[in-house]
Amino acid sequence: MIHRLPEFVSPISPDAADVVLVVGASRGIGYAMVEALLSKPEVLLGSPNHKPLIVLAACRHPQRAEALQALQRQHPQQLALLTLDMANAEAFATLTQQLKSLTPTLRAVVNTAGLLHEPATDSQPALRPEKALSQIRVDAVMRSFSVNAWAPILLAQAVLPLISRQHAFCFASLSARVGSIGDNQLGGWYSYRAAKTAQNQFLKTWSIELARTHPLATVLVLHPGTTDTDLSKPFSAHVVPEKLFTKERVAQDLLAVLRARGPESSGGFFDWANESVPW
Ligand SMILES: NC(=O)c1ccc[n+]([C@@H]2O[C@H](COP(=O)([O-])OP(=O)(O)OC[C@H]3O[C@@H](n4cnc5c(N)ncnc54)[C@H](OP(=O)(O)O)[C@@H]3O)[C@@H](O)[C@H]2O)c1
Repeated sequence: MIHRLPEFVSPISPDAADVVLVVGASRGIGYAMVEALLSKPEVLLGSPNHKPLIVLAACRHPQRAEALQALQRQHPQQLALLTLDMANAEAFATLTQQLKSLTPTLRAVVNTAGLLHEPATDSQPALRPEKALSQIRVDAVMRSFSVNAWAPILLAQAVLPLISRQHAFCFASLSARVGSIGDNQLGGWYSYRAAKTAQNQFLKTWSIELARTHPLATVLVLHPGTTDTDLSKPFSAHVVPEKLFTKERVAQDLLAVLRARGPESSGGFFDWANESVPW
């Protein structure tokens, strides 16, 4: 469902505005990305003489995303909210239809949806990162993989019809350094690590295929650094303050990486400081 669609934007002319889709926009880094794009679009687009930027913010429950709704009231002509549950593989076809009804092309897609832990609900048990082999459960592995591993490549499938062959495009998805096999020194967090590793391989593989047909497109896998959000809160007590970033800072840093990296970097894994992360 499309919520609060600004009247003039439908359908958006590519000459009139650049359109960016942010997924996982309800809170954390995704919400901060939407805020940053609306307040300082030049962080992504470079020159201050850029076209107007329209942000499509997708999240599971837009009707419950109060901060995002408040932002939409402040920017009624630049921000529309879309519903997308990344764990529902069937939702992606609907997303494609919705996007096509809004715009012929996207300038960028930033996927920030991720899952490390979740409280128990009536329908499912709590999700916690495993500390030991004995704690691995198939249902928990599946829950982590559905959001962290294969949702990003299903999102790529969904947005493919909106990627121009003639104009620059960037698809960036948040991974995590713990998804690096080469950098794994602590162990633990089996499902989350493996799911992020799988995401990295999916997107690396897509970047090679995409380069053959869309030479101006860039696919990036990004590590945000340890960021003060709901996701890191249970584990951040021992992180020294200078290594625990605010989500606002991380959003700006990651958008700067998107701006700096072009097709020659496609298929790369980079951190918030624009440094390569080992696979
Ligand atoms: N924070 C860190 O230190 C850190 C470090 C390394 C990597 N990362 C990665 O950075 C990304 C952003 O993390 P964060 O710190 O901003 O986490 P967060 O504050 O917990 O936010 C997670 C976001 O993902 C969304 N999400 C979860 N499951 C979803 C689903 N099924 N469908 C749609 N959206 C879903 C949440 O939406 P709801 O509001 O609907 O739950 C929320 O918007 C994640 O991919 C994470 O793995 C974070």
